[in-house]
Amino acid sequence: MKLCITALLLLGATTFVSAQETPAWAKETKAQKEERMAWWTHDRFGMFIHWGIYALPARHEWVKRNEHITDEDYAKYFEHFDPDLYNPKEWAVKARAAGMKYVVVTTKHHDGFCLWDSKVTDYKVTNTPYGKDLIAPLVEAFRAEGLRVGFYYSLIDWHHPDFPLDNVHPAWTRDTEKMAAANEKRDMNRYRKYMKEQLTELLTMYGRIDELFLDFSYPGENGKGHNEWNSEDLLKHIRSLQPQIIVDNRLDLDHTDWGWDFVTPEQFMPQEWPTVRGQRVPWETCQTFSGSWGYYRDEYSWKSVHQLVVMLIETTSKGGNLLLNVGPTARGVFDDRADERLEGLARWMKFHDRSIYGCTEAPETFAVPANCMLTYNPEKKRLYIHVLEWPFKSLHLPGYKGKFKYAQLLNDDSEIKFTTNIEQGSHTTENSKAEDVILNLPVQRPNVEVPVIELFLE
Ligand code: GLC
Repeated sequence: MKLCITALLLLGATTFVSAQETPAWAKETKAQKEERMAWWTHDRFGMFIHWGIYALPARHEWVKRNEHITDEDYAKYFEHFDPDLYNPKEWAVKARAAGMKYVVVTTKHHDGFCLWDSKVTDYKVTNTPYGKDLIAPLVEAFRAEGLRVGFYYSLIDWHHPDFPLDNVHPAWTRDTEKMAAANEKRDMNRYRKYMKEQLTELLTMYGRIDELFLDFSYPGENGKGHNEWNSEDLLKHIRSLQPQIIVDNRLDLDHTDWGWDFVTPEQFMPQEWPTVRGQRVPWETCQTFSGSWGYYRDEYSWKSVHQLVVMLIETTSKGGNLLLNVGPTARGVFDDRADERLEGLARWMKFHDRSIYGCTEAPETFAVPANCMLTYNPEKKRLYIHVLEWPFKSLHLPGYKGKFKYAQLLNDDSEIKFTTNIEQGSHTTENSKAEDVILNLPVQRPNVEVPVIELFLE
């Protein structure tokens, strides 16, 4: 790494490096990148955790901005933050049971509050009534359960005195003169230094960090993007500290091929595998249980276990990862509604996780049967048919003849017999074609959220 940086310095003196050109420190072959991301592509499923003092108002992590709360008024949450029931071992056990393989936790959200004992600010958990670092025990607990650890870090900061006001800032006003006056003493250079120092802490104090979720850019007039963050320099610094780290695409470097590792569709399901400049790219969709990321007491738009299981299947079926969020309460626990969803996922994953891990989109040569979704494990050569609506006795697999040798239900490894010699004109096979296969299913749907049929391919 050091060598690369020196090379860049030497180069930099003579050559102009355009934004699109890969700087020397970021050079990596396609194979190297795939290798770096191999665990992530395999694991598919992670837990997002949004936690901070906004759990106290319990009405969205953007509450400060949504309600234009002043620093003085927001201080009451800092003064009352005391998660006495915090036990990250419980969280980690639940995440592992649900089949999640990594965790990404908010170390600082847009309100600027830090969950670790940062040396460069007083606005941190160790100065609240709770008084202790939250991050170290969390990292330890999740690692002990075998999960990898990632950090979310907000580029936006509504508390820092040098962060210039803009139209997403809680102190924003229509009065342009007032805005200009408020921004006069705010110095982005100092804020950039602060971010770099904080990221240095986060990437040196907790051992290997596997994913970094930087959030977010809104370039343009009155906004902030790669110029304001000095994204290239920040990313170079991050990679020098943790060369293996997997970084999201919210630094506003989407115009480059080297300034991000994966794209981040948020709170919607892409219709197909996302592409950038015509190429399929690694993607991780982040999703909530109920709409808000931080704990929201009065939100009643919770997704059902079924919807969440289908969301995980659908994400995998399009070659993506699912980062599913929990917003713990201010006492430091997951509330009942979150527990219920995690338990439902755990029940399904216990029997079906091999249709998720190591799986991706099925080759086009496999048609998707009616009311089903497909996932595919290229290494094991297995195809998984996720049956969303259980049909009566027969599942028709169009054009599957000769493509697989054995079929079973995944929840109990019970054989599924199948018909390949389709008799033309028989009254039970109606329009089926000679190259089709009919799976002979039990009439009773297996008692699982989404039944899965495993095909062992030829
Ligand atoms: C958005 C929101 C934020 C949330 C994030 C998760 O950018 O600003 O509250 O943390 O998405 O991806």
